[in-house]
Amino acid sequence: MNRISIKLGLLFLAFILLIEVGLFFYLYTGLAATRISEELESLRIRGNSHREVLEKHHDSPTLSHVALMESEAETDVIITDESGKVIGSSSPLVKGARKTVEQWAGHSFKYRGEIIQEYQKEKLYIATASPIKISDENVGTVYMFKNTKDIQEMIARLQHHFYIVGIISVLFSIITVFALSKFITLPLIRMKQATQKLSQGDFSVKLGAHSRDELGQLGTSIQTLSSDLHRLKQERNEFLSSISHELQTPLMYLKGYADVAKRQSNSETEKDKYLTIIQEEAQRLSQLVKDLFQLAQLDQNKFLVQKQNVNLHSYLHTIISHFDLALKEKGVELYLNCPQETEVSIDPERFQQVVINLLDNALKYSNNGTEVSVIVRELPNSVTITFKDQGMGIPSTDLPYVFDKLYRVEKSRSRKSGGYGLGLSIVKEIVEAHGGEITMTSKLGEGTIVSIILRKKDEYADHSFN
Ligand SMILES: Nc1ncnc2c1ncn2[C@@H]1O[C@H](COP(=O)(O)OP(=O)(O)OP(=O)(O)O)[C@@H](O)[C@H]1O
Ligand SMILES: [Mg+2]
Repeated sequence: MNRISIKLGLLFLAFILLIEVGLFFYLYTGLAATRISEELESLRIRGNSHREVLEKHHDSPTLSHVALMESEAETDVIITDESGKVIGSSSPLVKGARKTVEQWAGHSFKYRGEIIQEYQKEKLYIATASPIKISDENVGTVYMFKNTKDIQEMIARLQHHFYIVGIISVLFSIITVFALSKFITLPLIRMKQATQKLSQGDFSVKLGAHSRDELGQLGTSIQTLSSDLHRLKQERNEFLSSISHELQTPLMYLKGYADVAKRQSNSETEKDKYLTIIQEEAQRLSQLVKDLFQLAQLDQNKFLVQKQNVNLHSYLHTIISHFDLALKEKGVELYLNCPQETEVSIDPERFQQVVINLLDNALKYSNNGTEVSVIVRELPNSVTITFKDQGMGIPSTDLPYVFDKLYRVEKSRSRKSGGYGLGLSIVKEIVEAHGGEITMTSKLGEGTIVSIILRKKDEYADHSFN
């Protein structure tokens, strides 16, 4: 038994017992009261019927007949005249009956009969009184008595039944409540164990989602969390190993060229050449570290997008102009096709990185004499920016992975061009931070198309219009 099911069980039990005790008490007192009032009622009616007989024949044979009748029965009778003097009674009489009659002498009772002694635990009897009236003249009273022994026995029997039923139902409640609470808390316990395992690095968590309720959903969430954690851990390991691999190569170069440059036999020009290589390699390494840092920031959501309205035409035009020299060197033509008035809400500084990385790729992976075009299309709710090149393209088997960190189609391909395979992952993160979407299509040997879709309004703004 675990703590939570005991807690839950005790709580349930306390409630159920409280309800049971209340109900039983209500039922018991109700039943007892009905039985007692039935007894009183039948006593009153019996007294009334004696009274009626005596009203018809108010003589001594009738009196002794009534007295005799009651002597045989369980009830007792005392008949008085109008002054309260006893003129007939059954025998034996219950103790204290005569005293009561004396006390009530001279009292005028209601004709329908009155209860003069209710049921009380310490009293030996219950009693009623019915007046005898002949032509509207009070001529006496019929007092009826009944021993309370029967009623007490009846109540004792009732109590006995209630004790038995009470004990049985309490036992049943205890069993069902604890079984139920155990049943309810079982999935919770499983989840607790699962999360403990997770925190110890064991990802083999199996939480079969048996139910569709909140507990089942929680189980599914934990299961998803577990596989996500597992994947993240794997990704991190892979990422770390590829990073160290990536760092290894340039560092080797640096060390190698430094060794070579140190040789005494080097001429001044050779030395210069090696130092330039070292400088370039160091430059590349520093770029890599910068990219990695940017990615880490993007991952941690530290990076805030500060959007503002930007005229896309002049914005793109300015960025593209930085590429003029590189384009000329490579012999690639670049076309910008953008409506003059198109405005988008972006973080200009961050988004610049997107355009630069994509143009850099288009240029790097194209041969001279080809064309690169940037086309902007405006729709009512979105703006699409397309980057098209006529370069070498990407094999369809590699296409799904190009947005992954440190992924390059051919390691040798970009070794020459100096990339580390981080450009597109940064692009994707930034576009997604803007609430946009990025897609890529490519044909090997024909070219590549990258499309960015930016929504014009924030989703919140959209909803608020509904
Ligand atoms: N326009 C393109 N044409 C052909 N191949 C491309 C194009 N853009 C990307 N690729 C391929 O996708 C890979 C990943 O691109 P990404 O921009 O992420 O890295 P990179 O250009 O190699 O290095 P970095 O951008 O970090 O300097 C590239 O190595 C390249 O092989
Ligand atoms: Mg790139």
